[in-house]
Amino acid sequence: MEQLLAQLEVYRSEIEAYNIPGAEGAEKFRITYLGTKGLVKTLMGEMKNVPSDKKKEFGQVLNEFKQLAEAKYNTLKEAGEAGGVQQGPTIDLSLPGDIFPVGTRHPISSMRSRIVSIFQRLGFSVAEGPEIEDDWHNFTALNLPEHHPARDMQDTFYISTDPAWLLRTHTSNIQIREMEKGKLPLRIICPGRVYRNETISARSHCFFHQVEGLYIDENVSFADLKQTLYFFVQEMYGNDVKVRFRPSYFPFTEPSAEMDISCQLCKGAGCNVCKYTGWLEILGCGMVHPKVLEHCNIDPEKYTGFAFGMGVERPAMLKYGITDIRLFSENDVRFLKQFRGV
Ligand code: PHE
Repeated sequence: MEQLLAQLEVYRSEIEAYNIPGAEGAEKFRITYLGTKGLVKTLMGEMKNVPSDKKKEFGQVLNEFKQLAEAKYNTLKEAGEAGGVQQGPTIDLSLPGDIFPVGTRHPISSMRSRIVSIFQRLGFSVAEGPEIEDDWHNFTALNLPEHHPARDMQDTFYISTDPAWLLRTHTSNIQIREMEKGKLPLRIICPGRVYRNETISARSHCFFHQVEGLYIDENVSFADLKQTLYFFVQEMYGNDVKVRFRPSYFPFTEPSAEMDISCQLCKGAGCNVCKYTGWLEILGCGMVHPKVLEHCNIDPEKYTGFAFGMGVERPAMLKYGITDIRLFSENDVRFLKQFRGV
């Protein structure tokens, strides 16, 4: 009797583990367990050997076992039939789908793509470079003399000093890296994040974004630079925008200029955004300094080029009416969600 019960326990786990699929599997199960020569019948036959005072108990156990086998058989049969006729999924495909909340583009990303795509239409291709940079690509190759104030520890985040590794202060490092590759002509647009050791306030941050451009070929002139930037401004701000160039200084360009556009808020009449001048400075530019070309093994007698660089935050603030630069990096979803579809 004890042995019989132990044996039943083994059969029970066999039944539970049985997983031969399809109608065939179900039929095989039926023959093995429930058929005329099946296990249940055989066990019933054992009944006569069970002592009479145990018959009731054994009968009950056997009955439960039979029910387990039958239930398992029904499940296998149903699954087998469903597989056999290849029923389709029981979902109503005509119902509308679940709506998952999608993210929104960051206003800086949107503005960067707007700027980049205008230059792409002029044949510029995107180039990127490292944010952790060496002294050569961020400063020396760009003709920044050793004691130039921009190298001051106050402006630059140094990671190490000897050798100097730093967080790039502008994306001009990409221009050097591309020129060093030696493939000319070169027409690139370089977006990226830059770092300067500045006090964080509503108007300035210790990191921000730039888009710089570079064009090197034979006979590139300042007129080409003006025309390119003029095209950009019209695409970006509309046909009625006015432009002016002011002489300026950058170590890596000569001559250098800064470009202003007529203030988009007051249309030139004067407001507190343009500090009542009617003009907004939007970028720096100039003809690539011959020394910079030489540093990259480009013959300045044969090739000339222009470069320009602009921030992304300021145009984004103007366009979306954002008055605090810190909002861009605080990741407050209430702020970010307002830029759906821009
Ligand atoms: N690198 C300059 C800056 O970070 C911008 C610039 C680029 C100016 C190219 C002139 C030419 O301010």
